[in-house]
Amino acid sequence: MARGDADQEALAKPTVLDLFCGAGGLAEGFAQAGYKVLGGIDNSIHAIRTFEANFSDAQGVLADLRSPDLDDLERQFKGVDVVVGGPSCQGFSTSGGLSKGSGRDEADPRNRLFINYIEIVERLQPSWIVFENVPGLLLYESGKVALDIVEAFAEIGYKLVPMILLAADYGVPQLRRRLVFVGNRTKQDISFPAATHGDPDLWKGYALPFAHLSRIGHGRSDAALPHVTFDEACADLPIVAEGGEIDRAPYQIPPLSDYQQRMRIGSELVCQHASADLSALDRVAAQTLEPGQNWRNMSMDVLPPRFAKIRSYDATTILKRLRGDQPAYTITTKFNEATTGAFLHPTQARTLTLREAARLQSFPDRFVFSGSAAQIRQQIGNAVPPLLARAVAEAIYPDVMFGKTGVVAGPVRDVVVVDNAVGKADILKLHGARKRGKPLAALETVAD
Ligand SMILES: C[S@@+](CC[C@H](N)C(=O)[O-])C[C@H]1O[C@@H](n2cnc3c(N)ncnc32)[C@H](O)[C@@H]1O
Repeated sequence: MARGDADQEALAKPTVLDLFCGAGGLAEGFAQAGYKVLGGIDNSIHAIRTFEANFSDAQGVLADLRSPDLDDLERQFKGVDVVVGGPSCQGFSTSGGLSKGSGRDEADPRNRLFINYIEIVERLQPSWIVFENVPGLLLYESGKVALDIVEAFAEIGYKLVPMILLAADYGVPQLRRRLVFVGNRTKQDISFPAATHGDPDLWKGYALPFAHLSRIGHGRSDAALPHVTFDEACADLPIVAEGGEIDRAPYQIPPLSDYQQRMRIGSELVCQHASADLSALDRVAAQTLEPGQNWRNMSMDVLPPRFAKIRSYDATTILKRLRGDQPAYTITTKFNEATTGAFLHPTQARTLTLREAARLQSFPDRFVFSGSAAQIRQQIGNAVPPLLARAVAEAIYPDVMFGKTGVVAGPVRDVVVVDNAVGKADILKLHGARKRGKPLAALETVAD
């Protein structure tokens, strides 16, 4: 492509700013979908180093978004097409509401982060917003926090639609559910990505938590492809012992699946394939459990007394060994500790390596992380899986481009159009899981 053409293309690309960017999982998905990432803001130096190393054309900004310099942000990012990212909402207090007209309590530091988020959006005036969080946000104050978010954005001219998406439905080898608000100030309806992968048996016998906003995918669509499994994601990576590390080593075998081939694009070497030392209990589990087994398959003699109090159908992912023929469960920031989730490798006596967790989150192998192992786990576990972010980014791409250039582009992928009438009743009627029969092991880990 001639230089002039490349400039032209870059000019036409929709632009993105990633607030609370972390490593940049969301940004990576948008970049893969053809957007130009202008910048990412985070208060963690390690996250910003990772972001800068992987988005060399973008501006990494180390800043505390509790006290952002709005003038500076406006100077740098005014005119950006899409603002993505969401603060952790755990601390939100909605006493008085979050929107301006509600008498919100600005002195409450728990509200500050979100109020500043709204102020940044108000200043930058992006056409579109993508705001990601855990589905559990819908339970805070019986749905009032989520409703306040929608109302606060409405007050500054943005219509936001919440939807819960299952990452596995978009080719991510992980049963991770995330609440994604997509919105705009252009009054266009909102397109969410139709599922490309599925498993009709996954939720059989269950009413899913927050079923009302889980109507896309989740085994209901006739998605063409099965969910990607652990083995399809990771079985080509070299064997590593507990506490061992392989870094900057050539791949030992060719890719064994389409997913592995895709993950290797742009990468010649296996990097950060590092596993953690285990506690004594984790080590027993890692050395004795079969794939798919968990703490209930261990003798009470080796388990601490607290396990005696767990009901037999609860905590089914604690000390669980993953199965190679299924997707992984939610990757958290503690995937080194088997007592906190389903993090035991299907066949090797250890928990997941950093690279395996990155693959299970769909970060390509060329994506290298900065910081200590604990800081990297934080970045990987907190990330929006790039392939999920990519699906969301592709779904709105034609509408974003239309707003930017006036050109009607064809759809990039199949979408589910949700008119933007999701309202108060829809959000407040959400409730937790209702069991309809014998619990499935998979359910609890996808609830949050
Ligand atoms: C859930 S993670 C974001 C993950 C990111 N969207 C991704 O896909 O990789 C939330 C991020 O918010 C950052 N953060 C928390 N409090 C902050 C603050 N006051 N100012 C700026 N960033 C903050 C954390 O360092 C963390 O990286």
